[in-house]
Amino acid sequence: MKKLLFIFLLTFSLSETDPPIAPISAFAEFDISSGSFISYGSYMGGGFGLPMNLIRDLSIDALLYVLVPTSSQYNCNNLLQNNNVNMENVVYLNYNHDTYWTKNFGPYFIVDGNNEIGIVDFQYDRPDRINDNAIPLQLASHWNYNYFDSDIIHNGGNLMFNGINQAASSTLPYNANPNLDVNQMMFDYYGIEQYHTVEDPWNNYHEHIDCWAKFVSPEKIIICQVPASHYRYAEIENVVSFYQNQENSFGEPYEIYRVYTPNGEPYANSYIMNGKVYVPIGFSQYDDEAIEAYQLALPEYEVSGYQYGNFISTDALNCRVMNIPDFEAIQIYHNSINDMPVAMNEYEIIVKLNELTDYGINENSLKVYWKNQYMTEYTSIQLEYFENTYNANIPQQPGNTEVRYFIEAGNLNGRTDRLPIAGYFDFYAFGGPGFNLGDIDMDNLVNINDIFLIVHHVLNTNPITGYGLILADLNEDNTINVFDIIRIVNIILGN
Ligand code: ARG
Repeated sequence: MKKLLFIFLLTFSLSETDPPIAPISAFAEFDISSGSFISYGSYMGGGFGLPMNLIRDLSIDALLYVLVPTSSQYNCNNLLQNNNVNMENVVYLNYNHDTYWTKNFGPYFIVDGNNEIGIVDFQYDRPDRINDNAIPLQLASHWNYNYFDSDIIHNGGNLMFNGINQAASSTLPYNANPNLDVNQMMFDYYGIEQYHTVEDPWNNYHEHIDCWAKFVSPEKIIICQVPASHYRYAEIENVVSFYQNQENSFGEPYEIYRVYTPNGEPYANSYIMNGKVYVPIGFSQYDDEAIEAYQLALPEYEVSGYQYGNFISTDALNCRVMNIPDFEAIQIYHNSINDMPVAMNEYEIIVKLNELTDYGINENSLKVYWKNQYMTEYTSIQLEYFENTYNANIPQQPGNTEVRYFIEAGNLNGRTDRLPIAGYFDFYAFGGPGFNLGDIDMDNLVNINDIFLIVHHVLNTNPITGYGLILADLNEDNTINVFDIIRIVNIILGN
């Protein structure tokens, strides 16, 4: 049946399918990946379009999927071998294709409401490249994944997911699909609840977001930067103010990082895979700053530069390599702790998990590792299940300090995942004990002012926010109501 459908779809490339079963989650490039997907021997490109040292590094500890026509595989294999590529990780995919821009036409993966993996295709906006356009369908059949086609006219170079139901592009999809409700389609096929789109600030002919911005985590975006004298300064800063006003999937502002590109250097066109960042370099004296910019955005990731003669501003490293997610992973979702303006008794870590396989979560493996500046080693605390989330508390801190932490989760098949994949989350904590329950205004006194605050909260005339919500829940039953008022009155009366 699948075969028939496949032949049908190939023959009539008018190919919209039903959408996947909701809720849908699209993978991000920075999610844990099984490997990289590159091309060799395309009709128009010929070679890899990538430097051999990059290809070698990509193959070290992840698979290297190489799209190569059967007739070119021999040459391809020799080249890889002669350049010390880790041949154990090479996976050939024998399909004819037009170009080496795998990121632009390659397979974008989702996990659907049945926890099944699928490829969601679009209509590649280069109508002359029919072979490239057919690749996602060919691969879905090759790997036996569900296949969906939205038929939106789109391009992977202009399609970027944040891993938690958000995506970003230039505004091109609206112009390319005048008769479609693009946002609705993005929701139906990719589970995109918030589609961030802004005008291409470079005004490039292809309007690809991968030449100016990149999600580096569900909470962080890196955006290129030019000096105030640059003729594109206003447009690029417009992208920044756009993202300053967008909320991430946790309803918080995006953390914005910048990479300096005064001559249009394609540093935003970097590739992230499993704890490493591959940055195109060789453009100017700003190569080093670009590497530092990624290091700042992704602490303890391994960031390396790759030089190559035919990387250009509108077409560099990331255009020619895309990731294939790891479908054995335990997906870890976590809204990282923000800097805290006051001392706290504890810092609650809340984690959601989705196991892509069905081995079952190993509860004993669920840990938060944390340390402050006074500690040399991370110490671990156990995550405990409570109403669909796993929770643990980092305790109050002994002095003002940065706190670093990461999360680990394993399944019963012995697999362990980590978030972030490399490095840590960090937040700033004030030292000393936090405030007593009932000290809602945090003035170190529990008094009549705190009663007023709770009463106004209960009457909804002036709701309490932030940490005050914890301090107002005096009987710790997760609601703030008249019982908390009784409790605080009794405390003040000394009862
Ligand atoms: N000339 C190529 C095209 O228009 C360039 C592709 C650049 N890719 C990218 N992801 N920015 O298809």
